[in-house]
Amino acid sequence: MQIVTVSKGPFDGQKPGTSGLRKKTRVFMEPGYLECFVQSVFNAIGGAQGKSFVVGGDGRFFNKDAIQTILRMAAANGAARVIVGQGGLLSTPAVSNLIRQRGTDGGLVLSASHNPGGIDADFGIKYNIANGGPAPENITAGIFEQTQTITSYATLDTADADLGSTGTAQIGDMEVEIVDPVTDYQALMETLFDFDKIKALFASGFTMRFDAMHAVTGPYAKAILQERLGAPEGTVINAVPSEDFGKGHPDPNPVWAKTLMDEMMSDTAPDFGAASDGDGDRNMIVGRGVYVTPSDSLALLAANAHLAPGYKGGLAGVARSMPTSGASDRVAEKLGINSFETPTGWKFFGNLLDAGKATLCGEESAGTGSDHVREKDGLWAVLLWLNILAETGKSVAEMLNDHWAEFGRNYYSRHDYEAVPTEAANAVMDHVTGQLSSLPGTTAAGAEVSSADSFSYHDPVDGSVSENQGLRIGFASGGRAVLRLSGTGTEGATLRVYLEQYAAPGEDHGLDAETALSQVRAALLQIADLQNLIGRVDPDVKT
Ligand code: G1P
Ligand code: ZN
Repeated sequence: MQIVTVSKGPFDGQKPGTSGLRKKTRVFMEPGYLECFVQSVFNAIGGAQGKSFVVGGDGRFFNKDAIQTILRMAAANGAARVIVGQGGLLSTPAVSNLIRQRGTDGGLVLSASHNPGGIDADFGIKYNIANGGPAPENITAGIFEQTQTITSYATLDTADADLGSTGTAQIGDMEVEIVDPVTDYQALMETLFDFDKIKALFASGFTMRFDAMHAVTGPYAKAILQERLGAPEGTVINAVPSEDFGKGHPDPNPVWAKTLMDEMMSDTAPDFGAASDGDGDRNMIVGRGVYVTPSDSLALLAANAHLAPGYKGGLAGVARSMPTSGASDRVAEKLGINSFETPTGWKFFGNLLDAGKATLCGEESAGTGSDHVREKDGLWAVLLWLNILAETGKSVAEMLNDHWAEFGRNYYSRHDYEAVPTEAANAVMDHVTGQLSSLPGTTAAGAEVSSADSFSYHDPVDGSVSENQGLRIGFASGGRAVLRLSGTGTEGATLRVYLEQYAAPGEDHGLDAETALSQVRAALLQIADLQNLIGRVDPDVKT
C-alpha cells in the first residue's frame, strides 16, 4: 500500500451541493483532487475496512479513469468487495438498486447528471448510503469536514482492472465484481410493471420515441423497450453512451431535447415520447402534440399508479419538492393519503420512503421515482406511463385533459437565470427576504399577496430541520412564485424562479402556460426587482 501525502486539501471550501461534488472535469483531474474526496468519504464513514461498495458512472469523460482510481483506493483502504458496472457504466437508479439488492455498505456514483461532459465540461461524484440513496446532510457534512483537514490518502500501485467483460477480478486483497449494468435493473422493473400488457400495446401498433441523449440509459432502454417489450428498432435514439454526450446537454427538457420535442409536435409524431438524462435518473414525458410538465406527470402517476402491479395496493403517500407544483397535493387529498413538501434534492425523500410514509416522489426538475430504489428513476417513470397508457387505452392528451377536469390544472413554468454574479444573486435573495413579513396583504402588479415565507423543512421521521430552502410567495388568485439559488451550478450563481397558477375544475385549462402565468410573473419581477439587481428580466432557460 502506498500512502500519498497531500500538503493541503485541494478543496476551495465549496461544500458538496444538492447532489454531491460537481466541478469542471479538469479540476477533478488535478493530482489528488478526486483522491482527497474519496479518502474523505472513507474517513467520514469510519473507514472502508471490510466493507463493500457499488461503483459506476454515466460514461462521461474521465469516468473510467476515476473508477480505476477509486478501485485502487478502496483496495488500499481495506474494502472487501466492489461491484462495478461493465465498462464502468451504471445509471444512478441502477447503482441504488444494486446497493439495495446486494446489501452493500454504500456506493459511489460518478456523474454530473444532466451537465455536459468532456475535458472542458463537468464531472461529479456522489456517495450513496446503504439504503441506496444519496448521503444525508449529517454524512455530507462529515465528508466536507474531512476534506478540510485531510493530509494523505491510501492507494495501491497496481495495473488497471479490466472492466470490459463481466466476471470477477482481484485488486490486492479486494474482489472486484463486474456486472452487466442492465440485468438487475431490468429484473426489478419486471416486478413492478405488467410487461405483457406493455408488449401487447407495442404489438398493437403503438409508437414511441425514446431519446437517450447519448447517455447512460441507451443500453437500458434498448434492452427493455426494444428487446424485451418488442418496440421496433429505432424506437430508442442516441442510444450509445458517449464521453461528451454527442456534444450536447444530456438534459431531458424541451430546450435540450428539442429534436424529440419537434418530432412530437409534428404531423408524424409517434404516440409517446420520452427522454432521460446523463445518469438516467431524470425523465421527460411528451405525448403527441402535448408536453407533460414534471409536476403534472407526478400528479398523474400518483392518481393512476394502482393500475401497475407494483402499486396495486395503493400508495402510502406522495412527496414533492417545495418548488414542484401543488398538483400532486390535490391527488393525495382526494385519495386520502399522505402528502409531503420537502426541500429541493432527492436526499430529502429518503427518510419518507424508508419509513413507508411516501411511495411516490417527484421534483419539478424532471425527477420522478418511488420506493423501489432511493434515487429518482427516468426509465421507471417511462415504464409506469406505458403501463398506465396500456391499461387505460387513452392517449397522453386524453389522460392530461381528464386529469385537469377532475383535479384542476396547475399551470407551471421554471425560469432560470444562469451565471449571475454571486453577489447580485444574493442581493436578490436578501431583497425579497427583507420584505417577507410585510408582503402579505399588499398588491404587486395587480396581484394580491396572501402569504410569504422562507421555507424550512421539519423532517417528520428524524426531526431534523433544514432552513432557508427557498422563498415562497403565495397569491390570493391561487398563484405562487418561488425563488431559490441552485445548488448544482458550476459557474457563478443560478437563480431559479418557479411560477405557478392554479385553475380549478371547470375553469379554462386550455391557455398556454405563459399567458396563464403572466400575472404571477409580473408580480414576482416587481417584488424581486430583477431588472435593477441583476440587470435583466428575461431568463436564459424556461422549462
Ligand atoms: C437541481 C434541481 C433539483 C435536483 C438537482 C439534482 O438542483 O433543481 O430538483 O434534485 O438538480 O438533480 P438545483 O440546481 O436547483 O439546486
Ligand atoms: Zn441526473
